[in-house]
Amino acid sequence: LLTPAAHAQRPKPNYDESQVPEFKLPDPLVTSKGKKVDSAEEWQQVRRPEILELFETEVYGKSPAAPQDMLFEVTSVKNDALGGKAIRKEVSVYFSGKKEEPRMDLLIYLPAKATKPVPVFMGLNFYGNHTITDETDVKLNDHWMRANKEKGIVDHKATADSRGKSSSRWPIEKIIDRGYGLVAIYCGDIDPDYDDGFKNGVHALYNSKQKPAPDEWGTIAAWAWGLSRALDYLETDKQIDANKVAVMGHSRLGKTSLWAGAQDPRFALVISNDSGCGGAALSRRRFGETLHVINNAFPHWFCDNFNKYIDKENDLPVDQHMLISLIAPRPVYVASAVEDRWADPKGEFLSVKYAEPVYKLLGTSGFGADKMPGINEPVQKQMGYHIRTGKHDVTDFDWEQYLNFADQHFQGS
Ligand code: GCU
Repeated sequence: LLTPAAHAQRPKPNYDESQVPEFKLPDPLVTSKGKKVDSAEEWQQVRRPEILELFETEVYGKSPAAPQDMLFEVTSVKNDALGGKAIRKEVSVYFSGKKEEPRMDLLIYLPAKATKPVPVFMGLNFYGNHTITDETDVKLNDHWMRANKEKGIVDHKATADSRGKSSSRWPIEKIIDRGYGLVAIYCGDIDPDYDDGFKNGVHALYNSKQKPAPDEWGTIAAWAWGLSRALDYLETDKQIDANKVAVMGHSRLGKTSLWAGAQDPRFALVISNDSGCGGAALSRRRFGETLHVINNAFPHWFCDNFNKYIDKENDLPVDQHMLISLIAPRPVYVASAVEDRWADPKGEFLSVKYAEPVYKLLGTSGFGADKMPGINEPVQKQMGYHIRTGKHDVTDFDWEQYLNFADQHFQGS
């Protein structure tokens, strides 16, 4: 890593397509021994484990197994939420099995008129579950948060002012009307988003004495691990169809949903919204945010081994198309925004495209888009992609596509 002064002098981000370096991507369908993978079995038995291991050791870091005795506590149930449309529950997950920190709180909305277990979207948020809803009787988050006056965060804590501040990103009523549930979790319940030497959050359960080794979990991996623990809870909830859980995340939390979906095959559908560098975007393109910038600005997100590839992207044994390939054959959706050049929309598109051969080998319809589609013209087969007008955000347009995509794969329509 660079000194802060050297980091401040880093080169300007490249936004010029003609300046994208030439590169050769590692082939997801050639094993480390140079053998072409030509059957689904060989993919599952040989190549997929190799790629997974590379992402674990070189990019996000290895995570521990699920804890033995977690404690789930339903802390509230409201049967007439959202004017009667929804059942709303809050559930606390105690990772150690004891009623102490670390603890994550799930906010769950389910369609009230459902007659059988429902498919759900699950996603992490940036400032607490109470920020995604206008309902003021949802518990106000009590954990540390990044400073943000606009969002009503004061002294790193949420205030009543922060209620509903992120509701535009979570169209709960629309999700409910379309027959889905929503499960929300604040990422900082799992691991606070700052470089604390891994002393708090779930890291503290496992790494209390020393910082994780260079191939052990950073914060993104911890968040992804937390999503899997939330899924452990969902498997015990009779109102939810745990075989139909779509994990969705935006930006740093989109990087997280991809890594969660790549590792945990119980996630039936995976969505990356504007995830960019270290998410869906190809690192070798060095367009917008680069490994250099991300690892210096957020040294806690990835494992320490990832630093080896700063300005040496060609040495990476993987690139992000291989992260997408780990999700195969399950449906995956990547979304970009025109003004979100920092996240490299074209690099996000290319990851889907270059993961397609794996989806095809596994007998799915694949992607079917060779060139980037037009703006606001989604492509949806087993793999989905769109680039919409506007900036780095989650919009109703994005959700409309995710709901359509989920309909195709979960409801067979
Ligand atoms: C920063 C960071 C990105 C990240 C984004 C976000 O812009 O550089 O990598 O995706 O924050 O999470 O909003």
